[in-house]
Amino acid sequence: MCGIVGYIGSEQAAPILLDGLEKLEYRGYDSSGIAVINNDIIDVEKAKGRLQGLREKTNNGANVIGTIGIGHTRWATHGEPSDVNAHPHLSQSGRFAVVHNGIIENYIALRERLTKKGFEFISETDTEVIAHLFEYYYKGDIMDAMIKVIDRVEGSYALGVLCSDYPDQFIAVRKASPLIIGLGKGENFIASDVTAILKYTRDVYYLEDNEIVVLKNDSVKVYNIDKEEVEKNVFTVDWDISAAEKGGYEHFMIKEIEEQPKALRATISPRIKDGKIVLDDVSLTREDIKNIRKIFIVACGSAYHVGVVAKYVIERMCRIPVEAQIASEFRYCDPIVMPNDLVIVISQSGETADTLEALKVAKSRGARILSIVNVVGSAIANASDDVIYTWAGPEIAVATTKAYSTQLSVVYLLALYMAEKLGTITHGQYKKYLDELQALPDLVAETIKHKEQIAYLASKFYNCHSIFFIGRNLDYAVSLEGSLKLKEISYIHSEAYAAGELKHGTISLIEDGTLVIALATGNDLFDKTVSNIKEVTSRGAVVMGLTTTERSMNGIADYTIQIPVTSDIFLPSLSVIPLQLFGYYVAAQKGCDIDKPRNLAKSVTVE
Ligand code: F6R
Repeated sequence: MCGIVGYIGSEQAAPILLDGLEKLEYRGYDSSGIAVINNDIIDVEKAKGRLQGLREKTNNGANVIGTIGIGHTRWATHGEPSDVNAHPHLSQSGRFAVVHNGIIENYIALRERLTKKGFEFISETDTEVIAHLFEYYYKGDIMDAMIKVIDRVEGSYALGVLCSDYPDQFIAVRKASPLIIGLGKGENFIASDVTAILKYTRDVYYLEDNEIVVLKNDSVKVYNIDKEEVEKNVFTVDWDISAAEKGGYEHFMIKEIEEQPKALRATISPRIKDGKIVLDDVSLTREDIKNIRKIFIVACGSAYHVGVVAKYVIERMCRIPVEAQIASEFRYCDPIVMPNDLVIVISQSGETADTLEALKVAKSRGARILSIVNVVGSAIANASDDVIYTWAGPEIAVATTKAYSTQLSVVYLLALYMAEKLGTITHGQYKKYLDELQALPDLVAETIKHKEQIAYLASKFYNCHSIFFIGRNLDYAVSLEGSLKLKEISYIHSEAYAAGELKHGTISLIEDGTLVIALATGNDLFDKTVSNIKEVTSRGAVVMGLTTTERSMNGIADYTIQIPVTSDIFLPSLSVIPLQLFGYYVAAQKGCDIDKPRNLAKSVTVE
């Protein structure tokens, strides 16, 4: 969703802001803008649509003079995408310019109050109240004004604020919305995420809620709301800059699909030492694990689909009841969560608003929170008791692939770790699973090698209007992800069904030529799924079967995709690969905007 970047230094700010905003495009946006202080006046340029429009308007930033500025990509929530609703927003006199990420929940009341005091609003956004509030509270000290503003607004925010009275500094703050501080030499930055500034610095500060930052060319100072300076630790980001570049690939999505073996190795290998899983990041003791009454897994979208796989895997390995819940449902269902429950929160970005709120609900009921997160220092990581990071590197394509796969690998590590502590698997089983887990990256690489076959199948089926995915147990869990991958980037309607459930309603949708992608990888349920395939083929469906190289689907499916053999619990890591590739190639055939599908944002920081 919205992206923020800010710069102060000795270079011309606008080209650096545009460059940073380009790196944040992947978050999703529909307008953009920059504000720069030039000769004590704030110059604002905005454009609806792609960033290219803003580039053209400003001659790639060259026409906007000044060495201090803020920029924004907006994903419309309050008010349509338009130049006037785009950020930065100016206060009435033009003294303040504000970029904002998040939602001001009490903006209607604030707007009414400010209108009565003579302020005129020109946009439909919630953000404009912040610009006017700054002006209202400003009595010559920008820090005092900031403290008043954040005391009055309710909701979530990351703010970058310019004040024309302060041409040598700007100010920023965050609460429940992401914002990092980049520390350069003679220049400093703010950004929604590190990809925007990786080119300039790797040294960053992560901010706590309501810490206020004052950035100058040669200093960055962080204060609490009592204006006391706060000591911050510098964190050095080790993400490879090339990971955030396309590097010759047509799309980030296919690059990230191919990066999966490497990301899996980075996530798994350091955590297996001398034949044992070592989770340095987890403080759960054997006693704690034994005392767990129930495990909840809360997440959204693909991360939730990892949770559905996790339910099957953890229950099978550890014999602890597990409930996977969509975070936006969990937070409002008055969940029966107890102090000795473990709540596993899964999120690539670590910013997803619904997931973060669900975490807070669970925490308020005394549960222990273990999160699986990709972005170090993110809000979800900060709010958790334990964090296991996925080392997937930056994921730029909106449709997740390598984050999903690495989350799954952490689930395996965690399930085996707990099973060993609980004694629910034998030593022999533990050793076998560990060997297989370590071999998984190579098997994923092997599976990706067959992408030509998937591209061929995509070229046959890209015109379908509706595609069904079916499977049982773990295969059903992966079907959910396969279906989401396809629909989000190719815009083809698709549904995933538990194979045994079709005949209770959905089978009425099957007609001559309907494509059904049937996953039958698991050994135990292969024959059961084959029966369900027969039910659909006898009603005219065309079936693409997905199974292991150990099985044949000749005479059962019209087309067969095979994946390598490993233990059933690990098969989701392999079966998801052809489904990611199928979604990708279908979308490519249709000429869709694969990395930035319509209406979607990478990190969903609103409810
Ligand atoms: C789909 C996708 C989304 C995310 C979901 C949660 O390809 O990427 O469904 O999985 O928005 O995002 P995170 O993991 O950042 O919490």
